[in-house]
Amino acid sequence: MSEATMQNQTVTAVIGGTGLTRLEGLVLDEDRVIETPYGAPSSPLHLGHYAGHPVVFLARHGQDHRFAPHQVNYRANIWALHHLGIRRVVAVAAVGGIHPALGPAQLAVPDQIIDYTWGRAHTFSEEGRVLHADCTEPYDGALRAALIRATAAAGVEALSQGVYAVTQGPRLETAAEVRKLRAEGCDMVGMTAMPEAALARELDLAYATLAVSVNWAAGLGPEGSDIHGDIVASLERGMDKVRRVLRVVLGEA
Ligand code: HPA
Repeated sequence: MSEATMQNQTVTAVIGGTGLTRLEGLVLDEDRVIETPYGAPSSPLHLGHYAGHPVVFLARHGQDHRFAPHQVNYRANIWALHHLGIRRVVAVAAVGGIHPALGPAQLAVPDQIIDYTWGRAHTFSEEGRVLHADCTEPYDGALRAALIRATAAAGVEALSQGVYAVTQGPRLETAAEVRKLRAEGCDMVGMTAMPEAALARELDLAYATLAVSVNWAAGLGPEGSDIHGDIVASLERGMDKVRRVLRVVLGEA
C-alpha cells in the first residue's frame, strides 16, 4: 500500500488486543517498521488489503504478547498510525463483563470510559503545545455506528453501549473493586482503553472499541468459577465473533 493510497482513501487500522495478534484474511503488502519521537510501536505495522480495502493491523501487546497493558507504548502506536495517514482506528479489546449481558464471549461497543490507570505516558501535550482534548464522547460516533451495524449484519449479538472501566493491571481486580466499579456505573473492565482513546482524540483519529468479554469480572462469576479458566474457554469463541464483525466493517470501509 502506497503513501498515496493512505492519503487519498480512508484507511482503517485495527489494533488487536489479547487473542487477536494477527488479522486472518489480511493480504499482506508490507511490514513497516516505524520509529517515532516516542520510541518504537509495539510491533511493525502490517499494511495490506482486506476484502479489497486497504487496512493496517497493529498488535497492541506486540506479536508475541511481550508488553503488559501498563508497558504498551500507546503514544508510539497512535503516533505511528497517524503518521501513516490513518484516520479510522478500530480497537479490539478483551474485557471482563460487569453488565449482566456481558458474560464470556459476548461483545459490546462501549460509548463511555472511566480511566482508573496511573503513571502511563498519556498525552502528546508538551511545553509550548498544550492539548485539552474534548473527551466528552471519547469514542467516534460514526465509527461506533458502523461497528453496531456490522454486528447486526454479521448476526452477532452485541451490547450497543456501555461504560468501559480501565484499570492499571496487569493483575485482575479484587471482588470489592469490581463491586465499586459496578456502583460507579461501569459495565465492563479492561486495561487498555486509556490512554489509547485519548491519544487518538488528541491526533483527531476516529477511534472506537469492539470489546469482547472473556470472563465475568472478579466476584461476578458463578460459584466456583475461575477467571483464567473462563478466559481460556471463551477467548476463541469471542474472537471468532470479533472476526465476523471485522469482516463486515472492513469490507465496507
Ligand atoms: N479485568 C481487567 N481486564 C480484563 C479482564 C478483567 O476481568 N478480562 C480481560 N481483560
